[in-house]
Amino acid sequence: MTAPLVTEIDHVAIAVRDLDAAIAWYAGVLGAEVVHRELVEPDGVEEALVAVAESYIQLLSPTRESSPVARFLATRGEGLHHVGYRVADCAQALDAVKRAGGAVVDEAPRPGSRGTMVAFVHPKTSFGTLIELVQEGRPGDAGDGAARDSGDGAARDAGDEKAGTGPH
Ligand code: CO
Repeated sequence: MTAPLVTEIDHVAIAVRDLDAAIAWYAGVLGAEVVHRELVEPDGVEEALVAVAESYIQLLSPTRESSPVARFLATRGEGLHHVGYRVADCAQALDAVKRAGGAVVDEAPRPGSRGTMVAFVHPKTSFGTLIELVQEGRPGDAGDGAARDSGDGAARDAGDEKAGTGPH
């Protein structure tokens, strides 16, 4: 048996209609802080990452009608959208999933939020759950050591952002 492809849960993504209301709820009810907020224009979403230990809850809301998250909200309503798993190498993990018969949404890794490389696995072969493979850092960045640092960096960046846009 080879080593597992997925090393940690990076984030659990939840589709919401009102991002600010969701952020306020997570802060007020669960005491969970937003550490990063980003507009991901190619996907038509704005995301807020709420830190939970080494993982995140990723609150997602659409920025336009054509966004996949807008379609998701229209057909399924608010709730669990996808699970993001950390992988050491997104391209390698994606190939392994394809070789094992997994259906994929992305044929190749692409840039995700906070400087990650990501690829989505289609829910039709993963028991109804959309899966995102998340590699910290982009090709050309330093190795695994840097991946840890980038996590801290993301938190620091977000701390700065929070001063301007945070829920408090
Ligand atoms: Co995600």
